[in-house]
Amino acid sequence: DVVFIGFPTWGMQLPPPMKSFLNEYNLSGKTIVPFNTNGGYGIGSSFETVKQLCPNSTVLDIFSTRGGSERDGILYVM
Ligand SMILES: Cc1cc2nc3c(=O)[nH]c(=O)nc-3n(C[C@H](O)[C@H](O)[C@H](O)COP(=O)(O)O)c2cc1C
Repeated sequence: DVVFIGFPTWGMQLPPPMKSFLNEYNLSGKTIVPFNTNGGYGIGSSFETVKQLCPNSTVLDIFSTRGGSERDGILYVM
């Protein structure tokens, strides 16, 4: 009944594999708990896209935190 959806931010968007996953599976009636890592320069449209691709789900507010910063050579910071 409750589905946790975790993803990094890629190019200010929901990563394409996650878009494919949400397009492929029918999560109608489920409660979606989105969580995200990012490099600190913005989650862009990623959360909005989760809501758009789960129109018949209850989507809770996103939990978002800094992940690795590969641009700075920091691959794991949590
Ligand atoms: C192709 C690519 C695009 C990214 N785009 C963004 C971005 O738009 N905004 C941002 O804050 N971080 C961006 N990042 C940083 C990732 O979100 C970050 O590396 C990831 O959340 C780290 O997660 P992890 O510590 O679980 O590996 C990008 C990383 C990659 C590889």
